[in-house]
This record gives sequence, C-alpha cells and structure tokens, in this order.
Amino acid sequence: MSFRHSRIIGTGSYLPPRTVANEALVRELAARGIETSDEWIVERTGIRQRHLAEPGVACSELATEASRRALDAAALQPTDIDLIIVATSTPDYVFPSTACLVQKALGAPGGAAFDVQAVCSGFTYAMAVADSMIRTGLASRALVIGAEVFSRILDWNDRGTCVLFGDGAGAVVLAGDERPGVLAARLHADGRHESILRTAGNVCGGKVLGHPYLTMDGPAVFKLAVSVLDAVAREALADAGMTTADVDWFIPHQANVRIMQAAAKRIGIALEKVVVTVDRHANTSAASIPLALDVAVRDGRIRPGQNVLMEGVGGGFTWGAVLVRM
Ligand code: ACO
Repeated sequence: MSFRHSRIIGTGSYLPPRTVANEALVRELAARGIETSDEWIVERTGIRQRHLAEPGVACSELATEASRRALDAAALQPTDIDLIIVATSTPDYVFPSTACLVQKALGAPGGAAFDVQAVCSGFTYAMAVADSMIRTGLASRALVIGAEVFSRILDWNDRGTCVLFGDGAGAVVLAGDERPGVLAARLHADGRHESILRTAGNVCGGKVLGHPYLTMDGPAVFKLAVSVLDAVAREALADAGMTTADVDWFIPHQANVRIMQAAAKRIGIALEKVVVTVDRHANTSAASIPLALDVAVRDGRIRPGQNVLMEGVGGGFTWGAVLVRM
C-alpha cells in the first residue's frame, strides 16, 4: 500500500545520564596539561555541558531507548513498525547495522532495517529516505533515528574538537498518511570537501588503520555550513511553495550557536524561532536534530499544524533540509 504523504506521529529522545559541564571538562583537561576555559567554549560555541555515555554503552542502546519513547508518544507497539533507519557515524559494529540491533532490542522483526551514514546531516538523509519509501509503498510506519556515541571518536588531547561534542539519540515515528506531513526534502553532498571534517580510520587485518579520531578544519566548516544551510533552506521552501514567513520553528543541526544564528540571519528567520539545545547537549551529530525536535515538542513549543524546518550539515561534506508540518 502506498500513501500520498508521511507524517511525524511521535517523537522521543534519550541522553546518557552523565552530564559533564564545561568547568568539569576544563579541570579534567588541565590535569593533563591541556588548556581551555569555560569562557572560550561558551563564547565560540554556546556549549555549556554535554552528556557522555559510560564506557560499554553502545549507540544501539541510546537509539533503542529514544525509539521506545517515540513509540509511546505515537501510541504504537514495536511490531507496528516495518522500517527502521538509524543515522549514525558511531555504530556498534562494522556490521550488522545499528538499525538491526535496535530492531532486535525492540522486538520488531521482519521489516527493513539499515543505517545511513551522512554524519551530522544523517537525520535529514534518513527522513528523506523514509518519506520516499513510505510514499512508494515500501513501508508504512518507520522509526527514523539519529544516534551517536561521538565521545568514542574524539581525541581527548585535541582541545579544538573534544570540547564540541556529546552523546545522545533522538527518534521519530514517521507514518503513511493522506494529509501532508513531510512537505519537502532536499539532500546534497560535495565530496571534494571530505578532508575538512573526518574520522579517517578503518579496521583492516585485525588492526585499526589510519587515524581513528575526528579531525576538523573549524573555520572552513563554519564558512561552508552557513552558506549551504541558506541555499538548501531556500530550495526546500520553494519546493513547498512557502517562504520563511511560513516557518514556525527552525531546527538547524546543533553544532554551534554561532553557525545557527548566522544561518538563521542569512535565511531570514527570527532568532526566537530557532530551537537551541546545543548549550545542554553539545554537538551530537546525527542525533542533534531529532533531540532538539523532541525537546521542543515535549515542552509545548512545537504544536500540531506548525511548520518546522530541519537542516543538517556535516562531514562528507553533506547537507540537507526537511520541511515538515507537525
Ligand atoms: N580552548 C581554548 N583555545 C582553543 C580551543 C579551546 N578548546 N580550541 C582551539 N583553540 C585555539 C586555537 O588553538 C587557536 O589558537 P591560536 O590562534 O593560538 O592558534 C584559536 O583558539 C583559534 O582557533 P580557531 O580554530 O581559528 O578558532 P575559531 O574562532 O574558528 O573557533 C570553532 C573554533 C569553534 C571550532 C569554530 O571554527 C567553529 O565554530 N567552526 C565550526 C565547526 C563546528 O562547529 N564544528 C562542529 C562539528 S562540524 C558539524 O557538526 C557540521
């Protein structure tokens, strides 16, 4: 059976319980001779704390908990789900996919399950794929998840990156419907910029080869992110026959408050309409958008019928926009 549209019918999220405030991280780094400060981190990024998973807690565990909460919100059982997509760059294993592990943990066998890898744009990619699959009849009710244990790929001796990221998961239930939910989706990549943000390691012959930690050219990422977020917002709005005035809430990838503010300004969206969670969650890569969405749905800011513009940008270089009516 195919549907004309797909709609978000439930959201959920999960953060590992351990929070690490900037001050605590600064002390921990200072003990190892690495100098940074709460002021530097807050001024450059807006980040005040991050959640970090305990050793041994896997990406699939965070994803499963976020999924349970999204299923509860949608009043569905795991067995109602026939598609699970996990956007992640920090999967449990090389294979099987994290989505298969989530499917097993939830007890939802039989439907399709796979991961998408588009780093911080992963959730927008996963949403676009799930929406397409629902509209073409390949699935009817999907769990679309962004989940990361980014702390595992951070070099805790590199102050330029280790202060920026956190762990967490967010999920939505996307269901076939005759009323519009996903109004437009646009995805892009430009592999020529692959080297400005990457974790260039792999497993080979029983060893880790290459560099298994995240590296980043911060200023290059900043510049590119702001310009592509502007362009892709305009594309998605044009596809839906809408303007920035129709956007009730803007949820950009939560990397850095300054990128989010610069992007909103360039697109022409008032700062009051920008959902910000990076101060509490830091950058959780593919999890950041569904985490922020769930926070704003549960605190009552995002209401049924409102238009939400979600935008991802990240390694690859990848970027995407998904415009939804809630
Ligand atoms: N504490 C103190 N000083 C630091 C720290 C730190 N944690 N990190 C870097 N510095 C120093 C650098 O060593 C450098 O010192 P120097 O001038 O003596 O060499 C100085 O701060 C400036 O470094 P820059 O990298 O030029 O700092 P910038 O002002 O560009 O800010 C930042 C860095 C916040 C990363 C910025 O480039 C940025 O926001 N980039 C966007 C990238 C981003 O947010 N990435 C997140 C992941 S990407 C994504 O999700 C899309």
